[in-house]
Order: sequence, then C-alpha cells, then structure tokens
Amino acid sequence: MGINVDQENLEAVEAWNTVLFEKFVRFRDLVTTALGAHGTAVLERHSPQPGSRVLDVGCGFGDTTQVIARKVGPKGEAVGVDAAERFISAAREEAKAAGVENARFLVVDVQTGNLEGPYDQTFARMGTMFFASPVAAFRNIRRSMKDGGLLSMVVWRRKVDNPFFYDIEQRVLEIIPHPEKKADQVTCGPGPFSMADPHVVSEQLRAAGFDRVGFERFDAPVKIGEDVAHALEFATALGPAGEILRLAGEEGERRRPEVLRALSEVLEPLARPEGVFGASSTWIVSARAG
Ligand SMILES: C[S@@+](CC[C@H](N)C(=O)[O-])C[C@H]1O[C@@H](n2cnc3c(N)ncnc32)[C@H](O)[C@@H]1O
Repeated sequence: MGINVDQENLEAVEAWNTVLFEKFVRFRDLVTTALGAHGTAVLERHSPQPGSRVLDVGCGFGDTTQVIARKVGPKGEAVGVDAAERFISAAREEAKAAGVENARFLVVDVQTGNLEGPYDQTFARMGTMFFASPVAAFRNIRRSMKDGGLLSMVVWRRKVDNPFFYDIEQRVLEIIPHPEKKADQVTCGPGPFSMADPHVVSEQLRAAGFDRVGFERFDAPVKIGEDVAHALEFATALGPAGEILRLAGEEGERRRPEVLRALSEVLEPLARPEGVFGASSTWIVSARAG
C-alpha cells in the first residue's frame, strides 16, 4: 500500500480499495442516488460559503467534492480525502473531465494522516463510519479545522430504522446464519451503522474537541433498483446481506437460489413503475470545532 495507513485500519482500507471499490463501481448509479438525497440535505442546511476551504471526508468518487467546489467558487477550495487510492484516482479523473479546477484530492487515512488544513468547514456523506478509532479520527479532523468551523456529516441511523437493509438481512440470516469471517477475507471496519447512536457519537465528537453537537433525523425513500431483478442484484452484492453471502463463500453460492427467492418476496411489494424504493433514515450531524 502506497500510503501510510494506521495499522488498525489496514484491513478496512484494503476492503475499500478492492472488493468494495469494485461493487461501488458496479452499482455506482444506485449508490450515489441512494446516498445522494442524504448528502444534498446536508448541503442544503449547511451550504459551504464562497471563498471557503472545505474538507470532504471519505469522499469516494468525489461527486460531493465537485458540488462543494462549485459552491465555494474560484476563490475557495474543496479537498476530498479518502484512504482508498482507486477511489481517489477515479475522483481526480472525473473532476478533471468536468473542468472543476478548485477540487483537490488526497489519498490519506483520516485517522492519522496530514489533512492539509486549515479548513473552514468539514463535510462527510457516509465517510466517517469506518475508522477503527473514531475519536482519534475526529481529533485529527478537528486539528485540521479553524476554531469555530462547522463539521456536518450524514450517517445511517440504526439498521432497524432502514428496513431495506434490515428486512433483507433478516431474510438472508434465516437461510445462512452469520458466517465466520475467514482469515483472507477483508471487511470494512466498524461498518455503516457504527454511528447510529447519537449518545455515543456526541461523546466521541466532544472527546475530539467539538461542541454544539446537533442531530437531525432525515428520512427519504431511496431507489434500490430499476426493477426487482436489479434490486436483487444490488441487495445480494452490497450492504449487510451482500456481506453475509460474500463471507459465506461456497455455502453462500450454493444457497443463492433460495436466498433470491426469499428476497424477491421482500422486494416485490416495494416495486413501483419508476423503480424499487426502500425507506431509509439517517442522522444529519452538526458540530463546531470548539
Ligand atoms: C460509504 S463510502 C462513501 C463515499 C462517498 N462519501 C459517497 O457518499 O459516495 C465510505 C468511504 O470512506 C472511505 N474510508 C474508509 N476508511 C477511511 C479512512 N480511514 N480514511 C479515509 N477514508 C476512509 C472509503 O474508502 C470510502 O470511499
């Protein structure tokens, strides 16, 4: 690995740079549309100011970094950071192709790396839930921000509040009980639902030097497939159910037809003429660098 990744994050970063990167590319439209509504809601509430410098944490393909760059204008700068080199090289190419000149991208582990502050604002769309040590990572973010700067991020609420993930995972678990992870299999660290508890997250932020912590619940239906077949592909590749099937290896493959039948029953009632939609729920978290 070309960058200095904290030892504790090595496995997660490898997962993001390999199997998860490939799945995000494959389902790019669904992933960015599903996450899109939640990220847009954050930027509507906490719009970056013209001329400011803004950090985009765990920026992935950098589509939000480009949006922020347009908002801060030519006198400002948007810096997207991600520990997975493959996401960052895609983000650089795409920003260049779009002619966005004030967006810059760094391959860096947010928990320990140099984030090249100072920043007026930090934004993250689902980019903060995968650090092995969230307080260390938030402290590093805090150090890169100006005093009083705004951190705004969106994170999933509990799995059970996101029935698309939850119902599907439960159905898969009825068929394949939690598989044991094998030594050569990589996973994404604490995982997408690790910041669902506002009590825990507010303490983490305060311990890292933030104050005035606020949580707003944001609910939105998200498109999870063009039709049931597409939603089935998505559900069995990404998210908790996809992870169970992947980690179950040959057993997962053997039982896939059974899983597909069971999941069709969950997905069919969610189908509309314009696609398959699942209910989703996030926290829009805001805090000030104290
Ligand atoms: C769910 S994706 C979100 C990507 C993007 N923000 C979006 O909304 O499309 C999480 C991102 O966090 C990145 N990430 C995970 N651990 C990280 C770390 N320790 N430092 C920096 N980025 C990390 C992953 O590589 C991945 O791109």
